[in-house]
Amino acid sequence: MLKNLRLGSKFNLLLIGVFLIGILLSGTALSVILSRNAADQISLKASILIQTMNAVRQYTNDQVNPELAPRLEVEDDFLPETVPGYSAREVFEYFRSDPEYRDFFYKEATLNPTNLRDKADPFETELVNSFRENDSLKELRGNRSLPSGNLYYIARPIKIVQETCLRCHSTPEAAPASQIATYGDQNGFGWQLNEIVGAQIISVPAAEIFKTAQNVLFLVLLTVCIVFAIIILAINIMLRKAVISPLNRMAAVAQDVSTGKMDSKFQQDSHDEIGVLAAAFERMKLSLVMAMEMLNSGGDRQDRQN
Ligand code: HEC
Repeated sequence: MLKNLRLGSKFNLLLIGVFLIGILLSGTALSVILSRNAADQISLKASILIQTMNAVRQYTNDQVNPELAPRLEVEDDFLPETVPGYSAREVFEYFRSDPEYRDFFYKEATLNPTNLRDKADPFETELVNSFRENDSLKELRGNRSLPSGNLYYIARPIKIVQETCLRCHSTPEAAPASQIATYGDQNGFGWQLNEIVGAQIISVPAAEIFKTAQNVLFLVLLTVCIVFAIIILAINIMLRKAVISPLNRMAAVAQDVSTGKMDSKFQQDSHDEIGVLAAAFERMKLSLVMAMEMLNSGGDRQDRQN
């Protein structure tokens, strides 16, 4: 079947084949690289954020709490600013007030929280339970799909390691009166030392970054397609000018010569192989003309002798 095709079609078939294989291989490789890169970016963002939130907690614990703790004993209003979890969440809310970060979330998801805002939902409860069942598990990462889009999360266990925590989280009697007045005596009590009570969870939107990666992939593939189209066009023009047209002209001249029209001439337009071939044909034609003339004149002599 390939034998019946014209030279131009054969070349185009080959080029398009190479192009398709090329775009398939490079597209797949690029897609893998880009999505891995996107996943790395998302995970890096989440890591930095969770680390930052831990720094905020630490700061509150080390510097704010000692300053304000004495006031907890005497004042009627509880000072949530003394609580690391509170300051972390408040700082994160300021961070989220920038529209660019609205889809980022931070939660100290707790099974029995003091503030019901921190209550773990079923998905988070599962994470907390994984930590409770396996004490050596230090971190969980994964994707969670919500109606608002895909989120990538990092979760770390919250463990009660300090005795001081139990002042406010063991029994209502032990807690400052101001805390009971603000939060009631129902929630956030009964925690044990060394118990994992919840999970610190940071969630960052994944869809946006994967979409950017897809756009990059699309743009690169589009550019490759355009470049290939230009290459195929250029090769076609070149092939027609340098090979196909001269060959067609030579075929026409050869046809003329074969039917005796000896004034038809093989034109040498270039010095490439085709040009050399045309020159050789022209010489062959001239030799043929001479040979025929010799034959004819020989015939004449014989005619005269007879
Ligand atoms: C002075 C009392 C007090 C002490 C001490 C205290 N907490 Fe709390 N904790 C609270 C209050 C009140 C809240 C709710 C704050 C809010 O409104 O978010 C809270 C919230 C939390 C939360 C978020 C979940 C929830 O219950 O709402 C975690 C987790 C937590 N505390 C852990 C600890 C740990 C760990 C320690 C010890 C390092 C500790 N707390 C010490 C009073 C205290």
